[in-house]
Amino acid sequence: MPKSTFLLLSGEHPTLPYAEVRAILRSEGISYVEKEKGDQVLILTPEGRIEGLLSSRAALVMEGGELLGRAGLSMESVMRTCSEIDWGFLGGRTFGVRATRIKRYWDGAELQTLEKAIGDAVPRSLGARVDLGRPEIWIRAVISGGSVYIFSRGFTTDRGAFVRRRPRTRPYFHPGVLEPKIARVFVNLSAVRSKDLFLDPFCGTGGFLIEAAMMGMDAVGIDLDLRMVVGAMNNTRFYGLDCGLVHGDGTSGIVKKADGIATDPPYGRGTSTGGERVEDLIRGLARMARDTLKNGGRICFASPSEIGPAMIAREEGLRILEEHSMRVHKSLTRAIVVAERE
Ligand SMILES: C[S@@+](CC[C@H](N)C(=O)[O-])C[C@H]1O[C@@H](n2cnc3c(N)ncnc32)[C@H](O)[C@@H]1O
Repeated sequence: MPKSTFLLLSGEHPTLPYAEVRAILRSEGISYVEKEKGDQVLILTPEGRIEGLLSSRAALVMEGGELLGRAGLSMESVMRTCSEIDWGFLGGRTFGVRATRIKRYWDGAELQTLEKAIGDAVPRSLGARVDLGRPEIWIRAVISGGSVYIFSRGFTTDRGAFVRRRPRTRPYFHPGVLEPKIARVFVNLSAVRSKDLFLDPFCGTGGFLIEAAMMGMDAVGIDLDLRMVVGAMNNTRFYGLDCGLVHGDGTSGIVKKADGIATDPPYGRGTSTGGERVEDLIRGLARMARDTLKNGGRICFASPSEIGPAMIAREEGLRILEEHSMRVHKSLTRAIVVAERE
């Protein structure tokens, strides 16, 4: 039977973490079967290894590894599942067990009791020793929905890296910028891979370019405001990245062909639209994407949901794949649209 990979996803958004994983796997042409989707949980059987790829790219995956077993919400069920696991891979090695509860699932269970019970289930004959400091292998238990998932941790993502490069730490800052973690998700949703030509036609301070270039894409940004173009140049260089920057109208098709586009155009509030109506800007963006993207290329963009950005993109000939919703504040909900050029 093919091995299943368990992924523990961030709880920061209800739909984006799943979409990000699927887009990353698509970008690299990795086939997989999606076995189960739960609360902050995704279980896949991929063809090939995906751990390195997800740990280096995903913003909304926390950790993952090989699924060992899945129990119901009782100690009996956990013990039964543990007795069916082949623990041979722990032979002669040190291990630790850590349990995590998602939300309040099975809130009667003591995490420490669960950890001890799982640790005790590992046959002593294997010569594996418990080390809770720096074990060679972490065995993880995650309680989510009606299940306790037990997996051997293969990777964790460096979530602190996104915080360390928050926009205020860069040479040039402007308030309209999305936090790096979300910028990374946008780039990933455009399903670009390393060496692909990535375009942000409303690049502002360069937040999306930084994420794309860090993942090895050939990143090009356009902005109408010269201060932004210079600011984005300084920001990308600050990280030792080399991105193409153009001063001009992002809707005018300056770049001839792109593998993927991700962008956060102005909403007509904090950042300037250069006098254009937001609807017209989005229409121009969708038209440019249709003409610029290669066949099967994707665009991920955001816009105030009230203007119906997905419908505009559809009217301009793009195929809508997904629409996510993100509340910004009481009077602004951002729609995040992912569309494809057919
Ligand atoms: C929300 S900001 C983008 C923020 C960006 N993601 C960042 O990392 O800083 C929108 C940007 O679009 C630019 N803009 C407005 N109209 C434009 C147009 N027609 N073409 C290109 N850029 C435009 C604004 O100058 C602004 O920098």
